[in-house]
Amino acid sequence: MPRLCILLFLLVVALPARAQTLPYLDPSAPVDARVEDLLGRMTLDEKIGQMTQINYQVLNRAGDYSSNAVELVPEKARQLIRDYHIGSFLNGIAIPAEEWFTYGETLQRINMEESRLKIPIIYGMDHVHGTNYITGGTVFPQQINIAATFDTTFATQMGAITARESAFLGHHWNFAPILDLGRNARWPRLYETYGESYEVAARMGAAYVRALQAEQVGPHRMAATLKHYLGYSDPRSGWDRTPADIPSQALYEFFVPSFKAAIDAGALTVMINSGEINGEPVHASHYYLTELLRDELGFEGFAVTDWEDIQRLVNMHHAAENEKEATKMAVDAGIDMSMVPMSVSFAQLLKELVEEGQITEARLDESVRRILRVKFMLGLFEHPMPTRALLANVGAPAHKQAALEAAQASLVLLRNEGDVLPISSGARVLVAGPSANSKRNLSGGWSLEWQGAAEERYPAEMKTVYEALRTALPGSQVSLARETPERFVQQAQNADVIVLVIGEEPYTEGEGNFYDLMLPESQRVLIGHAKATGKPVVGVFVGGRPRPFPDEMNLLDAFVWAGLPGFEGGQAIADVLTGKVNPSGKLPIVYPATTSHVVPYNHKPSEHAVTPRWVSYDFGDGLSYTTFDYENLTLSQQAIGSGENVTATVTLRNTGSRAGTESVLWFLTDDVGRITRPVRELKHFERVTLQPGESRTVTFPITAAHLQYPDAQGRPVLEAGSFTVRVGDDTAQFRLR
Ligand code: NOJ
Repeated sequence: MPRLCILLFLLVVALPARAQTLPYLDPSAPVDARVEDLLGRMTLDEKIGQMTQINYQVLNRAGDYSSNAVELVPEKARQLIRDYHIGSFLNGIAIPAEEWFTYGETLQRINMEESRLKIPIIYGMDHVHGTNYITGGTVFPQQINIAATFDTTFATQMGAITARESAFLGHHWNFAPILDLGRNARWPRLYETYGESYEVAARMGAAYVRALQAEQVGPHRMAATLKHYLGYSDPRSGWDRTPADIPSQALYEFFVPSFKAAIDAGALTVMINSGEINGEPVHASHYYLTELLRDELGFEGFAVTDWEDIQRLVNMHHAAENEKEATKMAVDAGIDMSMVPMSVSFAQLLKELVEEGQITEARLDESVRRILRVKFMLGLFEHPMPTRALLANVGAPAHKQAALEAAQASLVLLRNEGDVLPISSGARVLVAGPSANSKRNLSGGWSLEWQGAAEERYPAEMKTVYEALRTALPGSQVSLARETPERFVQQAQNADVIVLVIGEEPYTEGEGNFYDLMLPESQRVLIGHAKATGKPVVGVFVGGRPRPFPDEMNLLDAFVWAGLPGFEGGQAIADVLTGKVNPSGKLPIVYPATTSHVVPYNHKPSEHAVTPRWVSYDFGDGLSYTTFDYENLTLSQQAIGSGENVTATVTLRNTGSRAGTESVLWFLTDDVGRITRPVRELKHFERVTLQPGESRTVTFPITAAHLQYPDAQGRPVLEAGSFTVRVGDDTAQFRLR
């Protein structure tokens, strides 16, 4: 054959055919076989690159923290990928979907051109409450509000819609759900959690993971992240990333279940707690990262560090002398990917460690296997590129409607003296308080930007509480209070009701650390002024953690906890205040009355052996514009043997005059325990909608899983004795023989 013919044959037939037959590129081959084949072809540098994650700011013109512009300097990306084979990038701020598409397309194209083995990059985003980093995206309430709905449908919606609106743009991996237990009101990230109950966190988290990962979002799927594994949320001082002391028994009983449930639901990645537990920085802990996470909980995905957390082992924890030692510690402990993320130091140091024989290549293989496996499972090898075809998904009316319904269902009516709510049409309303006319305060941190954006960046169509009330009460005079107390009092003379929107401004992480949990004095004074007018005063709390104001609380005629209801939150609040929507949320946390004694609802009995409990509102509190009765609580058996089940049954009746929705919360108390038992523990919940006069029988099937608790080694303890079931105000007891 003439030379030219051979060359042509090679180019057109033989080489492409050979490439197609590379086992790892064959979509019909089993994932594990593809992983092994690919791994066997990779160089040490390529493996290290897969374990390295770089922040988007490194790729923009400034290249450092000084600019948060989402702009891609192609040469920077090309160089990083060519020289370091970087396998993952992260982050951004809100830009239009079209721009994200171009960004994702350019970055992945450069990667596919430079990657010898055509390994797609995986891009991670903090879309933690809807697509909060896409201009025009659907922004849901924060997770604490989703918890207040006590309905996993909303977690499912949030997961599904987040994937549908962002994955096709090149956002392959979402850093949510947050499964830390929200039981410390002083911790600035409380609002990012599903609140105090592990039952709520476990069920919501699993629902979110299933929905986010199941959506076939165009060409490929999206990966969820369970964060921040483990024990991040209860620092002793209340400040972010400060030490937590959590006994092993308590970790197993309260902090592990949400992670376990989401692992069982198939979560593909976890992000590690930046802090320390019991003197051990989690990033350096073989126990937490390998023995507990993998051997006991059965996690098979990959573990990414949190931000700069290997460096933090040196400069924050003082647990390693230098970054190289810290790198060895973290890799030995079990991390798979380092969110370095502002340099390639991790890649350089890891290479030195392998070359010096301090870390084996076999250890790297374990991590690379896990990372590649996720990339294969998402379908990225077949479909690495973003697509324009789904742009219409972003902010679709049905998605915004789902976010609005979640916000509506999450609002908690805690007080309604003299039925001051709902506000009747025609009433003159004076709206006051620092959040009365604010968009950013409704949405909190992680909204358009890390700490929440400047007011003018929020969508024009988004409504503040004041604006939404104006629309909701067309015939009424709805006015906004002016600044000075004197003018305020004067204005109130022409009002029938005052709505005070109080609370907090956006924050997250260390930026939200503070010195005083109490509601700021200026706001407490404002409540006093409002009361002094003699008009009914409705308080609406908008913020990420409950801020006590016990004295002034009594001056309010009505009080609504709104948490952080997101972009549809102003509308949802107006809907509840005006009665268009009947409130149905219940508190997923305790609303404390003091700043010095703040304990969760499921505290131990000795907590109040001497001094009585004092909270403003309790976990599970929440009123409706209708009334519900719980009738005939019965148990299928009064005594059971181990291995036997008992079913609790109660009839819920709507005894009021309008349709309403009630979350039925089932609590269980192990009345006597060798390891002291919580005074009550939420074990089951269900949301029921009833017409006036309608009733429904609801049940709680109680099994051994509900009766046992873990010891300090995580082994189940099942103790004979008495148990109390609580629902509404009713209780019933049974014995385990
Ligand atoms: C640090 C935060 O702790 C974490 O929640 C977030 O996902 C990462 N930064 C990435 O932005």
